[in-house]
Amino acid sequence: MTIQWYPGHMAKARREVTEKLKLIDIVYELVDARIPVSSRNPMIDEIISNKPRIVILNKADMADEKVTKKWLQYFHEQGLQAVAIDSQKGIGLDRIMDLSKERLHDLFSKMQAKGIKPRAIRALIVGIPNVGKSTLINRLAKRNIAKTGDRPGITKAQSWIKVGKELELLDTPGILWPKFEDEEVGLKLAATGAIKDEILNLQDVAVFALRYLIQHYPERLKSRYQFESFSDHVVEIFDHIGKKRGCLMSGGLIDYDKTAELIIRDLRTMKLGRISFEEPDGKE
Ligand code: G4P
Repeated sequence: MTIQWYPGHMAKARREVTEKLKLIDIVYELVDARIPVSSRNPMIDEIISNKPRIVILNKADMADEKVTKKWLQYFHEQGLQAVAIDSQKGIGLDRIMDLSKERLHDLFSKMQAKGIKPRAIRALIVGIPNVGKSTLINRLAKRNIAKTGDRPGITKAQSWIKVGKELELLDTPGILWPKFEDEEVGLKLAATGAIKDEILNLQDVAVFALRYLIQHYPERLKSRYQFESFSDHVVEIFDHIGKKRGCLMSGGLIDYDKTAELIIRDLRTMKLGRISFEEPDGKE
């Protein structure tokens, strides 16, 4: 679903998350492992404030493992607990529980010392649209919870989903907006499929992706599209891919829209392997 974010929506989304924070012990901040910064809400620290938090790098199955390791280290150095998971297959989910217990150990010990009966940890999943919030909720719940839609403002009575005996999740996640005023962030969100294709020009997204791949994953490009070397001109690169893959218009001219679509589809379906579009050391 394409969402239009307006100042009113943003304020409402933020209000809804802030309200939910009162009900829970810990926030699970979901980000896309391929773009852990660009898939974050720009005001997340302010919104979550001092509530305990775990950063969850979702879709780790699609990200470059080596880069993901660096990101985990990066968040650790920022004083945040972080874990990489694949919500679709349910890989890494146990670690979320372990980290939650670790993080809340002191708080729960204090509650116990005050005579408060031990209870399950209460958590809220937050993140930008399409980052995998519903998939993770369903995985943890081991059933299909209906998606309420990526629209801030669709409210319903809060209910809790029990995950074993030790965890309770709010059944509706907190939906936050990405930093879309930054053009590069927009391109990364589009390349990874976080925003719909109608929003940005597909050729721009493909050019951005190609430039990144030439710099960081040249071998993958070479073997997928049989390059011997890369031209400095992106049009020539497009021409080469278009010709190799038969994206032609009548008269043999390259169909750039079709070529761009093919490149993006190859990326999203992992035909180019596991790719991360951001590294913590700022290597762009
Ligand atoms: P949201 O609630 O945050 O908006 O996201 P949602 O769970 O709907 O997930 C968005 C898309 O991302 C879905 O794909 C979902 O299957 C996919 N996804 C979620 N987590 C993971 C993961 O860890 N790995 C991979 N590879 N994909 C993940 P979709 O194509 O929109 O729908 P579907 O037909 O696949 O369900």
